[in-house]
Amino acid sequence: MTNSVYLHIPFCSSLCTYCSFTKFFYNEKMVYSYLNSLLREIKTKYRGEIIKTIYIGGGTPSCLSVKELEYLFKIIKIFNFDANIEFTMEVNPESLTLEKLKLMQENKVNRISMGVESTILKNLKYLGRNHDFSLVKEKMQLIREVGITNINIDLIYALKDQTLKDLKMDILNILSLKPTHISTYSLEIYPQTILGIKQEKNISEDLDFQMYELICQELKKHGFMHYEISNFSKPGYQSRHNLVYWNNENYYGFGLSAASYIENIRRTNTSSLKKYLAGNFLGEEEVLTKKDILSYALILGFRKIEGINKNMFFKKYGVNLLDLYNIKDLLKKGLLKENAFNIYIPCDKIYIENSILINFVGE
Ligand SMILES: C[S@@+](CC[C@H](N)C(=O)[O-])C[C@H]1O[C@@H](n2cnc3c(N)ncnc32)[C@H](O)[C@@H]1O
Ligand code: SF4
Repeated sequence: MTNSVYLHIPFCSSLCTYCSFTKFFYNEKMVYSYLNSLLREIKTKYRGEIIKTIYIGGGTPSCLSVKELEYLFKIIKIFNFDANIEFTMEVNPESLTLEKLKLMQENKVNRISMGVESTILKNLKYLGRNHDFSLVKEKMQLIREVGITNINIDLIYALKDQTLKDLKMDILNILSLKPTHISTYSLEIYPQTILGIKQEKNISEDLDFQMYELICQELKKHGFMHYEISNFSKPGYQSRHNLVYWNNENYYGFGLSAASYIENIRRTNTSSLKKYLAGNFLGEEEVLTKKDILSYALILGFRKIEGINKNMFFKKYGVNLLDLYNIKDLLKKGLLKENAFNIYIPCDKIYIENSILINFVGE
């Protein structure tokens, strides 16, 4: 069963220095052609299941005009919504307005994810962001004014010349907004981005680790659960949509470069706008073997702090987790831990998680 949908809106009103997502400068003429192709793709692939989570990401969905958003929501009405749907929309403080928010709320959006990234002007400039913290506070108020209370904030850290003191200020400012969820990202510098072209360098691994520790400490101190390597939530506010990915469950992905996982096939749509508009949606397809499925289940599942439930794993895959790969070996080395229900990466090893997960790649 496929009960989750990701929709990609590849337009932004300005382009950030670090961003490698599939996105283009907002272009009025292009948006309707794009939405028409999106509609065509959904009509071809959606099989009428009840949808429990929708995530509209980008790009910046909130940079569409009110009329374009109305059309987008008309398209989304195709889906059969579960009564308890989690419906998230990514927004940027620059383009969010009360009118757009009212439209979102009327169309059942009940979770907002806002890119705040930093609250310090110097760092926002480095990232190429066109907002400051006072604008973020204003937009948070508007979100609450329309009655949406489930709000995620994105934070980027490990920036050039950033100190632990700067980061602490970012964390405290973000906490003052009272979000229900915080996603944190250590800055990645990709070659094709402005930072990459300028050959900007990452901060030292040592400082990066100290920053990660500071984030974990401060957020836990303020009542946030650390439930995935980079994600924190107030109890009961974990992202249900992202848990679908980490639990290796099925999902539809519609739009440019969107990924889907259905009946053991992982597909990634083309990232060529020209091809997408011509109706050639597919980019790559990977038909998974049993080994691949298990490998994905481990790599994704161990991202969760609680790890993987042994019984559920057996029920789903018919294999005992402890009999797989080098799990016993990693347990012996202390790189994995076990309790009555789960196997998980211990807290003090989460930072080196990637070097542990590498054990399961292509096994
Ligand atoms: C699609 S954007 C969020 C919505 C909106 N476009 C915005 O930027 O406000 C997804 C998030 O990924 C994170 N991100 C993107 N590129 C990154 C990079 N190179 N390094 C670290 N985090 C990154 C940022 O936190 C960003 O908010
Ligand atoms: S970070 Fe967000 S706003 Fe900036 S270019 Fe990427 S998708 Fe667009």
